[in-house]
Amino acid sequence: MKLFYESDSSIFKNENALSLEYLPPEMPERETQLKELAAALNSSAKGKRGRNILVTGPTGTGKTSCVKYVLNQLTEFSQTPIAIYINCWNFTTSNAVLSEIAERLKLPLPRRGIAFDEIFKRIKEYLTVSNKVLVVVLDEVDRLLANNSTEILYYLSRGDELASGKISVIVVSNDDELPAKLDDRIRSSLLESRVKFEKYTAFQLKKILSERAKLAFFSSAITEEVVALCAANAAKQGGDARVGISLLYQAGLNAEREGSNKVLIKHIKLALEEVKNETDFIARHFDSLSDTEKRIVNLLLTGPLTSGEIYEKLSDLGISNRMLQFYITKLEESGMVTSQEIEVKPKGRTKLISLRK
Ligand SMILES: Nc1ncnc2c1ncn2[C@@H]1O[C@H](COP(=O)(O)OP(=O)(O)O)[C@@H](O)[C@H]1O
Ligand SMILES: [Mg+2]
Repeated sequence: MKLFYESDSSIFKNENALSLEYLPPEMPERETQLKELAAALNSSAKGKRGRNILVTGPTGTGKTSCVKYVLNQLTEFSQTPIAIYINCWNFTTSNAVLSEIAERLKLPLPRRGIAFDEIFKRIKEYLTVSNKVLVVVLDEVDRLLANNSTEILYYLSRGDELASGKISVIVVSNDDELPAKLDDRIRSSLLESRVKFEKYTAFQLKKILSERAKLAFFSSAITEEVVALCAANAAKQGGDARVGISLLYQAGLNAEREGSNKVLIKHIKLALEEVKNETDFIARHFDSLSDTEKRIVNLLLTGPLTSGEIYEKLSDLGISNRMLQFYITKLEESGMVTSQEIEVKPKGRTKLISLRK
C-alpha cells in the first residue's frame, strides 16, 4: 500500500486510484452482475452454504473487481462467512490451492506428507466446530486447467455432499467456453449459478473512466473530451477497462512530465503511441534473436509463464536451467520481457516471465 504522495503535482489528486490493484468504491455498469453474485451468496450470510458460481468474460471487464467488491460487502455484513480469494497464477495446482486455504484458516499442517483428503477433512472439521461457512474464489482458474490439476474444483464445488453444506466456490475464468472443458461431475455442481461479463462499449467505458478520473485527477486537470478519447480507444482495443485506465494514467504522466497543469488530447495521443511502440518493439527485434530466444518469446505470446514452465517446454533443447536463466536475463536486458518474483506454494518463490507490453 502506497501511503505517501508527492503533493506538488498539479495533475494527480490521488495517483493510486489509477494503479492496477486499486479497488474502486463503486462499479458502474455492473449492477446486474453485482446483484447476481450477491443473490448467489446470500444464504452464506445466514450460515448456510452459498451457491457455486461460474464467472466468465474477457479480460478487463471487471470480473475480479466485482467479485472482491461483493465479498467485501458480504464479510462486512455478516461474521459467519469466511471469504478466501485465491489467484491461481500464484497457486497453480490443486494441492497448492488447498494448502493455501488451510493456511489462511490458520490450520496447522505438518510440513510434509499430508494427503489431499486429510487436509480437506480438517477444513471441514474446522468449519463445523467454528460454525462458519466458507466462500472460496478461484480467480484465473484457467491456470489450473492448463496444469491439468482440477480436483480442487471437484472438492470445493461438491461442498454440499463432501463438506456437509459448508463450502461454496466462485470460479473465475477469461474463457466463455470453460464449461465445455470441465469434467461432467464438476460442471454440473459448479454451474449452480452463472454470471457473465461482456466487453464494455465506448459509452460504458466513458462512464467508468470519468468516475475514476474524478478520483485520480484534480478537476481542473481533466476534461470530458480527454476521458472520451481514452474510452473510445479502450473500446476499440477489446472493451477492456484496464486499457482505458492505463491510457488515462500514462496521459497524466505525460502531462506532468511536460509541466502542463492539464491533460490534453496530445498527451493521450502520445500515450497511445507509447503503447503501440512497445508492441512494435517486439516485432522489430524478433529477427535479431537467437533461435532459443525466439522459442522463449513465442511461448510467452500466449501469456506469462514461470521459468520452471519455460524450462519444461524447452526440454527438447537439452539446455541447463542456468543457461535458460542466462537467456531470460538477456531478454530482460533487451527490454523484450519482464520478470516478477511470485510465491508458489509449497515450493517457495519463483520468477514469472511475461512479454513486455
Ligand atoms: N465497472 C467498473 N467500474 C469501475 N472500474 C472498473 C469496472 N470494470 C473494470 N474496472 C477497472 O478495470 C480494471 C480491470 O478490471 P478487473 O476487475 O481486473 O477485470 P477482469 O478481472 O475482468 O480482467 C480494474 O482496474 C478495475 O478497477
Ligand atoms: Mg481478473
